Formats: sequence, structure tokens, C-alpha cells
Amino acid sequence: MLVNGATGAIGSAAVQLLKRLGAVVTAVCDTEHVELVRGLGADRVIDYRAEDFTKDEETYDVVLDAVGKSSFGRCKRLLKPSGIYLSSDLGPLSQNPILALITPVFGGKKVVFPIPPKYRQERVRQFKEMIESGEFKPVIDRRYRLDQIVEAYRYVETGQKIGNVVISIEPAI
Ligand SMILES: NC(=O)c1ccc[n+]([C@@H]2O[C@H](COP(=O)([O-])OP(=O)(O)OC[C@H]3O[C@@H](n4cnc5c(N)ncnc54)[C@H](OP(=O)(O)O)[C@@H]3O)[C@@H](O)[C@H]2O)c1
Repeated sequence: MLVNGATGAIGSAAVQLLKRLGAVVTAVCDTEHVELVRGLGADRVIDYRAEDFTKDEETYDVVLDAVGKSSFGRCKRLLKPSGIYLSSDLGPLSQNPILALITPVFGGKKVVFPIPPKYRQERVRQFKEMIESGEFKPVIDRRYRLDQIVEAYRYVETGQKIGNVVISIEPAI
């Protein structure tokens, strides 16, 4: 699999979970974060400041754009004949949900658009155990108190946060 945006909240979790599931992962991030992404378990890292990942010579079963900076059209050549393009974003002109309906009809390379996950207790428990055992390490950039939420949103909206921003809800005194 290839994960674009491997330093985001979704991308940094995806790299770790995919490695846990036994996938071979190529991750895309900027120069500054190559070591961080290697530390998450990526087998190969492409620095997007040095190289255009859409021109990579490898082909993949799945390309996950976890930062919404590409499109099916640009990534199609990276996919194996039955490869899947997944994105956490709607894509240019909101094309991803539409392509997810159309592309499976023709067979071959297709777009899958994730349906919002159901937050099952079992899943939350599983993550809690993985975090406690150190098997999954959420990447945390900054922490804010609840009364700093405007500041926190402003930071997230820069599009440059690394991993997650945590809002701490202080216990009432
Ligand atoms: N978080 C959620 O719960 C959620 C849910 C649904 C959908 N989404 C969508 O999913 C996308 C990602 O959200 P997110 O919260 O995981 O992360 P995010 O905060 O939007 O992503 C920021 C990360 O993307 C990297 N980045 C910026 N430009 C890039 C580029 N051109 N190529 C590769 N990486 C780049 C930045 O790292 P560098 O500075 O190293 O490039 C930064 O670490 C967003 O479009 C969001 O709307 C998010």
C-alpha cells in the first residue's frame, strides 16, 4: 500500500495499523518528517519535496490519500490492475463518492470512498488495549485545554499539524 499524508491524524494511524495487519507500506511525507514516519513502521518513505509520488515506478494494491492532495486520475498509474484508490477527502469537485459508484461497474481499478465508521464499543476497547500495550502509538502534536479550543481549531486549520491535536477536558473543581 501507499499512504499519502502519512504525518496526518489519519495517515499516521493508517501506517501503524497497516503494518500491524502485515501490509508492506510506502509512505509519503515532507523532508522534515521522514524519520518520524519510518518510526511508525513504513517500509519505504517518499519525501514529497524531493519527488512526485504519483510518478513512482512501483505499483500498489491500494493507494490511500489520507490528506486529500491527489486524485484517482493522478494515482491511477500507481495501481495494480485491480487496485483501489481510497481517500479521506471528497477530492476535486467532490468526485470521489461519484467515482466510488461508477468505477466498480467497469471492473479493474476502482475508487472506494469510506463510509463514516461506526464507533463500536468493541473497537474502542481494542484501541485502548493497543495503546496500553504500546502496539499503537498515537502521534500527538499539541495539547490544548477546552477553553483554548478556538486556538486549537486555528492550528488544525493550518493543515500542518503532525498527527493529532488533543483537547484536555479538565475535571470540574
Ligand atoms: N481527522 C479526521 O477525523 C478526518 C475525518 C474525515 C476526513 N478528514 C480529512 O482527511 C484529511 C486529513 O486529515 P487529518 O486530520 O488526518 O490530517 P491534516 O491535519 O489535514 O493533515 C496534515 C498533515 O498533512 C501533511 N501534508 C500537508 N500537505 C501535504 C502534501 N501535499 N502531501 C502530503 N502530506 C501533506 C502535513 O505534514 P507535512 O507538513 O509534513 O506535509 C500534516 O502532517 C483532511 O482533508 C480532512 O478534511 C479528516
